[in-house]
Amino acid sequence: MKIAVIGTGYVGLVTGTCFAESGNDVVCVDKLAEKIANLERGIIPIYEPGLAELVHRNHRDGRLRFTTSLPEAIAEAELVFIAVGTPQGEHGGADLRGIWAVGEEIAKALDEPKTIVIKSTVPVGTNAELARRMAQTTDIPFDVASNPEFLKEGAAIDDFNKPDRVVVGVRREEVGEQLHALYEPFLRTDRPFLIMTPESAEMTKYVANCLLATKISFINEMANLCESYNADINEVRRGIGHDQRIGFSFLFPGVGYGGSCFPKDIRAVIHMAQSRGLPARMMEAVDQVNEAQKDVLVHKVMDHFGNDVRGKTVAIWGLAFKPRTDDIREAPALVLIDALLAAGASLRIHDPEALDNVRAIYGDKLTYCDRPYGALEQADALAIATEWNEFRNPDFEVMARLLRQPVIFDGRNLYDPARMAALGFTYHGIGRAK
Ligand code: UGA
Repeated sequence: MKIAVIGTGYVGLVTGTCFAESGNDVVCVDKLAEKIANLERGIIPIYEPGLAELVHRNHRDGRLRFTTSLPEAIAEAELVFIAVGTPQGEHGGADLRGIWAVGEEIAKALDEPKTIVIKSTVPVGTNAELARRMAQTTDIPFDVASNPEFLKEGAAIDDFNKPDRVVVGVRREEVGEQLHALYEPFLRTDRPFLIMTPESAEMTKYVANCLLATKISFINEMANLCESYNADINEVRRGIGHDQRIGFSFLFPGVGYGGSCFPKDIRAVIHMAQSRGLPARMMEAVDQVNEAQKDVLVHKVMDHFGNDVRGKTVAIWGLAFKPRTDDIREAPALVLIDALLAAGASLRIHDPEALDNVRAIYGDKLTYCDRPYGALEQADALAIATEWNEFRNPDFEVMARLLRQPVIFDGRNLYDPARMAALGFTYHGIGRAK
């Protein structure tokens, strides 16, 4: 099939590349000329395992092209995917200006019937509104369909190639069939392709992210309670997870969720409820619990140093909002950095991929360390904000030697408290028994 993908952000680039990899002819469009020029030269704007190799191969073989010209990209395309950003706008709602602008451009360039597919996360009713707006500009018939994306950063290629399910929202059966043919190679034998209305598809995306974020805030609140009563959240996790109604997944306590999706989507749902005069008490609580959880490590560090970190040096491992990405949007580590800097501490920080992004914000206020152990030199304590695999089994003897004091604030519960105590560390986890 001939496909155009508008927007070469995370979702757009992964979508375009994976569709090219499955044999389609794909053109990716972005209005940022520099980004397109870089992609043409093989320079990928984000860190995502496996993506660069796929972009290079499909570009070399001519199945994946890049352009700044939307009319040129859609001229041949049967399917046009919109994957532009829908950031948090005023009052917490999603900012849809990107979607409307692209819709207008498509409508102006339309010279034959096409299917427009919204992949961006958008409030319920956006598909209908886009169709209404485009019909004011063009007389050529077109379809607008919803196809929410469920991929995770750091595992995006795998998630796209092996989806748990594919959801599409359509008004006409033929459009459902067209999209089914496109996704067929990814479905294997047992993965459902779910056809519903655009409204249900739009809502599905938000409901999935709301429930996942709820699980995280729930377990974080329970972890804090465990800690205060000297119970251990890891033991409790085992105690509840074997109940098949509960399970183990997505119930890891930590320093709160970050990233470009959960925070924004939860607030968008609160905004959607408010604009209908409906309560959104649970999602408000999820958001509040998460904001408070981002401060948990800050409180632990301040308590340990008697509320005075002036003259102290704290090492931080892990800055990205999660492992296997360089994305620091809404990352809990940034809250820690801001608070400790404001309180007068010096910071030596390390992350395998996100150092450059952090440097772009903080400049020379921080000491950037390419190696994890380098960050520990002359530090009074270590705080861990992201569970990169390379932090899971470090050489604790080396760590104890490098740190001025063997103190660890572990925001991701990577280590066993009993073992850490035996090694002579003062160890603070999340929701762990003393
Ligand atoms: C999330 C969803 O998982 C995807 O399904 C969805 O497609 C995507 O948002 C989106 O809307 O585009 P992502 O933001 O890439 O994906 O990352 P997750 O792996 O879901 O992690 C989100 C945050 O939750 C991270 O900060 C992570 O550290 C935190 N988390 C996750 C926990 O604190 N505990 C857990 O048990 C799981």
